[in-house]
Amino acid sequence: MPETATLQVRGKTYTLPVVVGSEGEVAIDISKLRAESGVITLDDGYANTGSCQSAITFIDGERGILRYRGIPIEQIAEHSTFPETAWLLIYGELPTADQLECWSNLLTRHEMLHEGLYKHFDGFPSGGHPMAILSAMINATSTYNPDIIRMESPETFQSAAARLLSKTRTIAAAAYKTSIGQPLIYPKPHLDYCSNFLHMMFSIPFKEYEPDPDIVSALSLILVLHADHEQNCSTSTVRMVASSGANLFASCAAGVCALWGPLHGGANTAVIEMLQYIVDSGISVKDYVEKVKDKTSNIKLMGFGHRVYKNYDPRAKIIKQAADRVLAKLQIHDPLLDVARRLEEVALADPYFKEKKLYPNVDFYSGIIMRAIGIPLDMFTVMFAIGRMPGWIANWKEVWEGQSRIYRPRQIYTGPVERSYIPIDQRRPAVAVPGSTTVTGQVVCR
Ligand code: SDX
Repeated sequence: MPETATLQVRGKTYTLPVVVGSEGEVAIDISKLRAESGVITLDDGYANTGSCQSAITFIDGERGILRYRGIPIEQIAEHSTFPETAWLLIYGELPTADQLECWSNLLTRHEMLHEGLYKHFDGFPSGGHPMAILSAMINATSTYNPDIIRMESPETFQSAAARLLSKTRTIAAAAYKTSIGQPLIYPKPHLDYCSNFLHMMFSIPFKEYEPDPDIVSALSLILVLHADHEQNCSTSTVRMVASSGANLFASCAAGVCALWGPLHGGANTAVIEMLQYIVDSGISVKDYVEKVKDKTSNIKLMGFGHRVYKNYDPRAKIIKQAADRVLAKLQIHDPLLDVARRLEEVALADPYFKEKKLYPNVDFYSGIIMRAIGIPLDMFTVMFAIGRMPGWIANWKEVWEGQSRIYRPRQIYTGPVERSYIPIDQRRPAVAVPGSTTVTGQVVCR
């Protein structure tokens, strides 16, 4: 007998099916609730609502577990490369040697941009934010690849996925070069994914950047750890856009925009700005934490807290260990790392953070490593986008393969009830609320 749930509302009882996932997660399927009862559910921020069933990534927020296609993130971080992780997320299994070689060759084949695309960068102002450039150029790239707009076959998908994954790296480096007024650097086909990115970022004419193996592996770790994370804000955006039948590039360009926000992918930048403020202002870590605890300050401890993790983000643990290793290898002493460690120590000992189950998330230490690699601050969220691209592509593929109807949430309307149109000569500005100094409801147009 299939498991069900019972809902009583307005004097009637409804029986709803229960769905249980492969890891024992339980959901009440409300897809027929409105048709049967006229009632919908409301869930601010979707904190309690599953938008889909997905086989890509599993997170247990209470136990701090993250697995890509069932493989623990700790093992992926220790053994895998970014291209291999991308294949695993997109196709569900680790690639064979032949598949990995073919996939790597595809990424190499598609590393260049059409020469016409390079011209677009001349149109961006230096100092233009690289996330805006990345999102714009991903969509611009699709205009040179009309076949991916139609996307009729698994072969077209694979080519489009390789093009997007490879060219995102080239676009990101070109965005950086544009922002600092340096000439764009072409990719080198004999370099691996991460070495090629560093080459395009830091080589200048007649002075090749020699990628340090420790820096290459640190970058690979950062990308692998960011590769997917279930239905986070940007991935849900990709699925939302994909559900209308929009192509892979358009959907992932939308994902870039969602990731940009400081509460999401923009947090890695905000963490460094926070740490730098503490160092520059001389405020003690203890006093800064007290500011955060004072709600009226509206200051959040950036890099702390998570919608899902109510325990330590496993990625933060891995990055924290790597930060030590990378900085020691590169013989870098970064005062921000000392502040970060102290901040974590003070916060985790404070009942305020314990009670709210606030722990460091992936963004708390990632910026420290990106600084050590030499990535500039305004490129941090771009690095997150490059890393997250495989997850977005894998989720787009799940929608494209027909696992989802067009996303169209309902709402509870709270606006004016029915009223009549008023001819313009009879309209009066909204009446000031007695005793108030402002006229409510009147929008001043200047
Ligand atoms: C990412 O979803 C994903 O998977 C995202 C991500 C991914 O890989 O895609 O993991 C990447 O986006 C990580 C998060 C990066 N963002 C930050 O580090 C910004 C700082 N964090 C917060 O803004 C916040 O924690 C969020 C946005 C991450 C989560 O917001 P929620 O779900 O609203 O937080 P919550 O419900 O757990 O908050 C509980 C309480 C609230 O206070 P009360 O209403 O109970 O009084 O804790 C407070 C919050 O105000 N709180 C914080 C806080 N985060 C939550 N207080 C101070 N500092 C913080 N960072």
